[in-house]
Amino acid sequence: MAMTEPQSPRRILEFLVAAGVDMIVGDEPVNRLQPPPPLPERQAEASPGRAAPAAPTPAQAPAALRAAPPAPDDAIMQARLQARSAASLEELATIMAAFDGCALKATASRLVFADGNPQARVMIIGEAPGREEDETGKPFVGRAGQLLDKMLKAIGLDRSGVYIANVVPWRPPGNRTPTPQEVAICLPFIHRQIELAAPDILLTMGAPATQNLTGRKDGILRLRGQWFEVDIAERKIPTLATLHPAYLLRQPGQKALAWRDLRALKARLAAE
Ligand code: URA
Repeated sequence: MAMTEPQSPRRILEFLVAAGVDMIVGDEPVNRLQPPPPLPERQAEASPGRAAPAAPTPAQAPAALRAAPPAPDDAIMQARLQARSAASLEELATIMAAFDGCALKATASRLVFADGNPQARVMIIGEAPGREEDETGKPFVGRAGQLLDKMLKAIGLDRSGVYIANVVPWRPPGNRTPTPQEVAICLPFIHRQIELAAPDILLTMGAPATQNLTGRKDGILRLRGQWFEVDIAERKIPTLATLHPAYLLRQPGQKALAWRDLRALKARLAAE
């Protein structure tokens, strides 16, 4: 088939499905290469003496402008300031739900803030919500979450004995890995969430959560089973890295390693 032959819409759809696309991120295509139309202030500067036209309401703004989140550095700064201003977990959830600095919010259905008991001694941190989490607003409710529940049960815990959140609280489209920029924007929020929940121990599941919270760059098979100290505000929180349940679903032969980590967690809880 010649490269230039037009593809039928059906073939294109089949290709997209095979490539893992499972959602539409907007009704209108956005040409991000097109320069944005002049802003009202710029028009006013260009013709002094004439009244500036009223700023468009969000609904009137062109799609390209409406969709544009703040520049990444600004978004990180805003996330830091806003996270710091939250005096409680409830306030933090409200602030995060209103935060527009992370582009993932635009494609996710909702914020996935936390599940479990905020007073628990153990806080579990994953990477980012998947489809079921996005639909329900609760972390770890899909297949990986069901395995997590079984892992917890094996050491005598359930969701009333742990507090669960993710480094990134909005589902990335098609469950792709969040970009370093998206993670950087979300980090101030998870740091503040940890500070406000004040757990005795953190359990990071998988490489992204472990690497982003501990600053270590090794792979998870090296990091798992090790204890780190994560600096949150004035505290150094003992942090155990383990394998992500989604990885264990793909590699059930590695469950023995996770079991070893969970026993280490149980022993440390009993000792302290
Ligand atoms: N994987 C995660 O890292 N977090 C969830 O909430 C669900 C799956």
